[in-house]
Amino acid sequence: MHKINLSGDIYFLGVNDRRTALFENFWPLPNGVTYNSYLIVDEKVCLIDTVERKFSDDLFEKIEAIIGKRPVDYLIINHVEPDHSGAIRAVKEKYPGITLVGNKKTIPIVTNFYGDTENSLIVEDGGTLDLGKHELSFHTIPMVHWPESMVTFESETGILFSNDAFGSFGTFGGAVFDDEVDLNLYEEEVMRYYTNIVGKYCPHTQRALVKLENLKINQIAPSHGLLWRSNLSWILERYQKWSSYSTDNGVVIVFGSMYGHTEKMADAIGRQLANRGVKNLRIYDASKTHISYIISDIFKYKGVIIGSCAYNNEMFPPVEALVREIEHKGIKDHYLGLFGSYSWNGGGVKNLEKFAEAVKWEIVDSPVEEKGALKEEKYAALVALANAMAGKLVEDFGK
Ligand code: FEO
Repeated sequence: MHKINLSGDIYFLGVNDRRTALFENFWPLPNGVTYNSYLIVDEKVCLIDTVERKFSDDLFEKIEAIIGKRPVDYLIINHVEPDHSGAIRAVKEKYPGITLVGNKKTIPIVTNFYGDTENSLIVEDGGTLDLGKHELSFHTIPMVHWPESMVTFESETGILFSNDAFGSFGTFGGAVFDDEVDLNLYEEEVMRYYTNIVGKYCPHTQRALVKLENLKINQIAPSHGLLWRSNLSWILERYQKWSSYSTDNGVVIVFGSMYGHTEKMADAIGRQLANRGVKNLRIYDASKTHISYIISDIFKYKGVIIGSCAYNNEMFPPVEALVREIEHKGIKDHYLGLFGSYSWNGGGVKNLEKFAEAVKWEIVDSPVEEKGALKEEKYAALVALANAMAGKLVEDFGK
């Protein structure tokens, strides 16, 4: 069995999950996901995070390949979400003398999920744990991703065990480290993971980034996806950008349409944006594309244009789900355009306007609402809406 070490006696124990279709039973995993755990072999043996419960045996195989029957002394719990803590009960059964290590918010949550936490050690923010040659320090990063989330730093090697932070969707295709892949192929899944799983907590991420600046980090070892040892600035710069709602020149058009009339409106807007030279342009059917891809692109591009047909005096349900998710995530600082089909009593555009008020994005032009099929007058209004959006983007980004 391959033993993968980050440095000397610090080992990677990650597993590929190619079979789970939906992360958190909601987010599609077309490329799977990994659960990364780590082992430090010192005077004390220390396991950092575990894996999803069904991979417990794989975790034990990897541990035994490294330390044989020697017991594990500590389990550091950086985050209690069960994708990382799912094997805790099995770990405690296998290593009954093990001490669970977490902060004051960690242990009560572990108790809620797994019962007995009698043999546990509560560490302070900035506190340390001596393993022999290695000293670990612990740094809380609340809400990246849960309130108890923390990172563990190994001072001699400069390895940061960051749990969800700097993680990604996608399994390993043989490669484990960032310098073993083409990062351009990997970026979409890094961004979709951040924006959808942690993206509600951008201000918290900003605070975490400031806090971590105080550490001399040489490697970042997250609990999902690639390990970062050669391209730290690649991932750190992206986290800085995404968590500050900094966007690129481009437009995401999303429509919800039953019989194609609102879709035609979306195409008319898209055509005019292309005429105006907007090259980063995405048009999504909210009924077809999972929300996670749309949210990720909204984090990427400054312009957002949303259209909905009327549906029982409301927005079309897939569009409603999208705008609720945008509101829920508190995504800031976009240009917004609205359009839709009135059908027999309206409801799509009217409710999109309520969304616009709630989200406080800058409306670039009056919403465009058509009754039934698209006709010349409203076609011209859609062209004007596209022109207004293109004009705003030129103001911000130039031609
Ligand atoms: Fe990967 Fe928030 O758990």
